[in-house]
Amino acid sequence: MRLALLLFALLGLSVQAAELSVSSPDDNITFTLSDSDTYSHYQVKYNGKPVIRPSRLGFAFEKAKPLYRDLALTEVSRSSEDSTWEQPWGEQRLIRNHYNELIVKFTDRQDKGNAFRLQVRVFNDGVGFRYHVDATGPRAIAREMTEFSIVDSHTATAYWIPGQGYDRQEYLYRETPVQDVMLASTPMTVKLDTGVHLAIHEAALVDYAGMSLDRQNLGRFEANLAPRADGVKVRKQGSFTTPWRTIQIASDAPGLINSYLTLNLNEPNKLGDVDWVNPGKYIGIWWGMHIQKYTWGSGDKHGATTENTIRYMDFAAKHGFDGVLVEGWNTGWDGDWIQNSELFSFTESYPDFDIEKVAEHGKKVGVKLIGHHETSGGITNYEEQMEDGFKLYERLGVEQIKTGYVAHGQSLKRKDDNGIMRFEYTDSQDVVNHFLHNVKTAANYGLSINTHESVKDTGLRRTYPNWIARESARGQEYNSGWAAPNPPEHVPMLAFTRMLSGPMDFTPGIFDLDYPPIKGGTEEHGVTEYMRPQTTIAKQLAEYVVIYSPIQMAADLPENYEEKPEPFQFIKDVPTDWEQSVALQGEVGDFVVIARQEKAHRDYTGKDWYLGAITNEESRTVEVPLSFLEKGQTYEAQIYQDGEKVDWKTNPYDIEIISKKVTASDTLTLKLAAAGGAAIRFRAM
Ligand code: NOJ
Ligand code: CA
Repeated sequence: MRLALLLFALLGLSVQAAELSVSSPDDNITFTLSDSDTYSHYQVKYNGKPVIRPSRLGFAFEKAKPLYRDLALTEVSRSSEDSTWEQPWGEQRLIRNHYNELIVKFTDRQDKGNAFRLQVRVFNDGVGFRYHVDATGPRAIAREMTEFSIVDSHTATAYWIPGQGYDRQEYLYRETPVQDVMLASTPMTVKLDTGVHLAIHEAALVDYAGMSLDRQNLGRFEANLAPRADGVKVRKQGSFTTPWRTIQIASDAPGLINSYLTLNLNEPNKLGDVDWVNPGKYIGIWWGMHIQKYTWGSGDKHGATTENTIRYMDFAAKHGFDGVLVEGWNTGWDGDWIQNSELFSFTESYPDFDIEKVAEHGKKVGVKLIGHHETSGGITNYEEQMEDGFKLYERLGVEQIKTGYVAHGQSLKRKDDNGIMRFEYTDSQDVVNHFLHNVKTAANYGLSINTHESVKDTGLRRTYPNWIARESARGQEYNSGWAAPNPPEHVPMLAFTRMLSGPMDFTPGIFDLDYPPIKGGTEEHGVTEYMRPQTTIAKQLAEYVVIYSPIQMAADLPENYEEKPEPFQFIKDVPTDWEQSVALQGEVGDFVVIARQEKAHRDYTGKDWYLGAITNEESRTVEVPLSFLEKGQTYEAQIYQDGEKVDWKTNPYDIEIISKKVTASDTLTLKLAAAGGAAIRFRAM
């Protein structure tokens, strides 16, 4: 414990200033709080050097005194934790929760009233802190004053997407000097001059607004909470606790991925036995709509027909998939569905979709029907029908529902207590509450939720393991032709940014890269010469390992997999639930190499390892020591790599599939073509 007492004069009064520090168990990270000037602030050092300069703490309220200046700091308590907990499903089964904690109190120097307590946890991989505010009656937060003042602001690089934007989280990442960031969503990743990497985010976002980072001068960012429709940031009744504000710190980029800070700061599982939450792989009547082969709405090209679904289910059964997602089964899609959210029914099928019959057929062939609830942002319309929709799916034996909230910027529709329609952001307080209400209610019906256009992930899967995945980023759908596609750097960018927050339903595995450009809707998004996935086939396979999700889709049409059975074998083999994961190499937006050991479960022995390597528009050779494999064990490495003649623009299909015996003492040399990758199964022999 370090407590320095100084004397200084403020407004002619003599006051004592305090400084309190807490360090990580390995002593590399130190978090220091101080009340030594007008503002209460904190700073963070890594290996003795500042990474966060003095940064303000506090709040401003409507109709209540602000809590951020002339506050006195005192220590409340200290404690430490070192325990291990188990995930029911995940990228890592056992997670170590190891930190030192300091709780402090800030009191008003004038009236001596309690301002807030700050709870700080310092782990070896970063810090988390949150506020507890004691209050009676209503409180309206006008501004959260928390700052993150990043060092090296002229020279450090930030990797970020806009916050509170028109397309929610679905943006391409920008790579700019820290001082050129505007309003950024989190996690925002930063590479400092020393090569140290930071990621600023939040954990356990519950009954609060999502935080974006608003750059002020130099590298100083202020928390910017998504406003409610009434302009207030957050409304609270009585005492409240904020989400954790988090700063991951690592000596290199892969270190950010090998961190479980966000999960550790969430509450343990509140659902009890979650055997009914099942990781797995699925296909769907989905890509066909995006490439305009099918329609969501009724008519000649309606995708969700009984016959088509049965065909997909038979394909799924034949190739070992667990489920078939069916979009466009319910009424409400005809016309401009993005504008007409109140027309969606969550119980009524189109006449050519016999939901009873397809569910029955699924049971016969051992494949689950996966539900779909697109709301197009109609929060109230959905809430009014949600339980009925869940009841229907529960009765039919459905286990998972994909939800969707396609609405732009501040336009999700929610009726307030007076029945007046209000317009909200995806991350404003009431919508944050809606998402969790949806997940909790689904749990009562034994249903898991995969939220698209969701608020960002803040680790709530730990507390509610039926929140099985989210989209919350630009996924494969953008490669279908209705928008400028994701450039080759997108996935190596996601790995070090979006993926730090939790599983993503990216939907990999597009095998047909020659489909004709679709008509309409592309000009405004910027038509490019290659309105299709900018990838090689090997990269599509590597995405199953690189992009973690307990549910992975094989996104292409069944007929396209039937045409390419050899690479398809990798998709059939790869599991979606892991004993452990390790990010081995990489640089943000350039390349990434990740290895994962399968979890022993059903058809999986738990012995095999998988590896995914992905590069951006640059070809590169990576040397991968296999020291992560079990010593003394021989493996057959089934390697799916870019072929000699591959070129993502002219010949994306060239793939070389080879097999060789390896052990932990070998090193593999992987040649990744531009926009390419490699996927490997290490089969224990
Ligand atoms: C957007 C989702 O991300 C996409 O997967 C879905 O097909 C459409 N909404 C329609 O619900
Ligand atoms: Ca989407």
